[in-house]
Amino acid sequence: MSRHLITSALPYINGIKHLGNMVGSMLPADVYSRYLRQRGHDVLYICATDEHGTPAELAAKEAGLSVAEFCAQAHDTQKAIYDGFQLAFDYFGRSSSQQNVEITQHFARKLKENGFIEERAIRQVFSVADDRFLPDRYIVGTCPHCGYDKARGDQCENCTRVLDPTDLLEARSAISGSSELEVRETRHLFLLQSKLQGEVEKWIDRVGDEWPQLASSIARKWLTEGLHDRAITRDLEWGVPVPADTWPELAAEGKVFYVWFDAPIEYIGATKEWSDLDPANRDWKSWWYEPEGAADVRYTEFMGKDNVPFHTVMFPATELGVREPWKKVDYVKAFNWLNYYGGKFSTSQRRGVFTHDALEILPADYWRYFMMANAPESDDTSFTWEHFTATVNKDLADTLGNFVNRVLSFSRKRFGDDVPAGAAAGPAEAKLGEEIAALLAEYEGHMEALSFRKAAASLRALWSAGNSYLEEKAPWLEIKTDPEAAALTLRTAMNLIHLYSVVSEPFIPSSATAMRSAFALGDDTATWVTPEQARALDTVPAGTAFTVPPVLFAKITDEDLEAYRERFGGADEA
Ligand code: MF3
Ligand code: ZN
Repeated sequence: MSRHLITSALPYINGIKHLGNMVGSMLPADVYSRYLRQRGHDVLYICATDEHGTPAELAAKEAGLSVAEFCAQAHDTQKAIYDGFQLAFDYFGRSSSQQNVEITQHFARKLKENGFIEERAIRQVFSVADDRFLPDRYIVGTCPHCGYDKARGDQCENCTRVLDPTDLLEARSAISGSSELEVRETRHLFLLQSKLQGEVEKWIDRVGDEWPQLASSIARKWLTEGLHDRAITRDLEWGVPVPADTWPELAAEGKVFYVWFDAPIEYIGATKEWSDLDPANRDWKSWWYEPEGAADVRYTEFMGKDNVPFHTVMFPATELGVREPWKKVDYVKAFNWLNYYGGKFSTSQRRGVFTHDALEILPADYWRYFMMANAPESDDTSFTWEHFTATVNKDLADTLGNFVNRVLSFSRKRFGDDVPAGAAAGPAEAKLGEEIAALLAEYEGHMEALSFRKAAASLRALWSAGNSYLEEKAPWLEIKTDPEAAALTLRTAMNLIHLYSVVSEPFIPSSATAMRSAFALGDDTATWVTPEQARALDTVPAGTAFTVPPVLFAKITDEDLEAYRERFGGADEA
């Protein structure tokens, strides 16, 4: 047994996520965590809402709420959706927690002590009407190159040219629309990442080769371009305050840390939130603080590819600069994009399928299976309603669900409420056992390697093997001439159902539970299957009482498909 720390990128607080966010972070982290728990490992899966920054402030303003109130509500809304998706976090925290404030401030003090934080004066645009400094993208005006009148201070969306806020003609605040803007001097803390470049390189040389290509190539590209010193404070009302004991003047001016400085620290903060709820039994530091040589925790991170630089380069630089043995990531599982009909899912344009809508239409397992079977691992992949429908109907409804219902209802009709004994296992069962054991080993290998598409394919192959066995033995014919033989076939198939309930759990936890609880075995924990059990197919003995569960997966009809396309938009607007 080993200890696994697992985190997924923290979903930003300002709005409900779409399936593209889910497939690259929380869902695969949950699948992996469930698998490792079933295999008997000590797993801690941590996530949280990422609550600071200007977008949170603006979303609160739009909702007519204080930022604190907005974040509290939005956190609960997101948490309820993740519960609906059966994401089994050990803890789902909030980056605005007191724990994160304390650890972030501690990190900042240490970085200063070690010479990696410095105060610098910069010139920034101040909006008199809003009484605040404006981040570049909250200044809008006319592009001097193309005349587009809604260009942002960092870039013109129309001609794509990179801009400086002072380039804009008729500049105004995106918040209030006021054009009363001044350039003022202000002081900020800078993280001297350039001084840490060499150390980060050495660290990546040591651990990065084991990462998937997507993660290591992005990390190396960033290092080649060179680490630059970055401002890590902002003039906002909402955020982790700069500690007054260390920077009294900046604290008095109300400076807070930049959201990307405190967000990854929340992985640690949320672990402490979890630990503080039951300090006698939970020790957050044992997961995060590793005195030299005591590497007993394996830390795996999940994220979309846009998050890779922050996790592989910037956060490790911060951790290294603190000069304390904070746990650094061992394995970075990064994902490409899931597209919607070949175009982007878009939160701002509300294009695609959003997590709350998905759950309103169909149970979580349908989505979980489809997303993982089509996870954008080596390339971007596309969601289409047609593909989704075909996958659900074929893999879930036909191959798995139909098998389960056919076997159980037929056995019940012919042999009653208990698993029938029948003849002793013969060559067909021996062959099936070998096949199942081999497929199981393949499945385990893909899960250990975090190859989710391949793992889903192996799982599907396990389900198919049951179908082939059933077609070959045809108990509906056997029953006419040799009831003992039919009983053997059904008992074996019921053992397959039980095995499926165990090994399908990471992907489709609710259906797995429904399958398992068909048998009166009293084993509601899905402990993993040994190769011997897979070969013998005898964990459900003859005489075990069983029930026939309701249909596991309903087929999506042509009318449903049409309605989904209508409601969400489809191919025509790609
Ligand atoms: N909120 C960020 C996003 O949605 C991810 C933050 S991950 C963490 O892209 F590092 F901050 F934790
Ligand atoms: Zn332009």
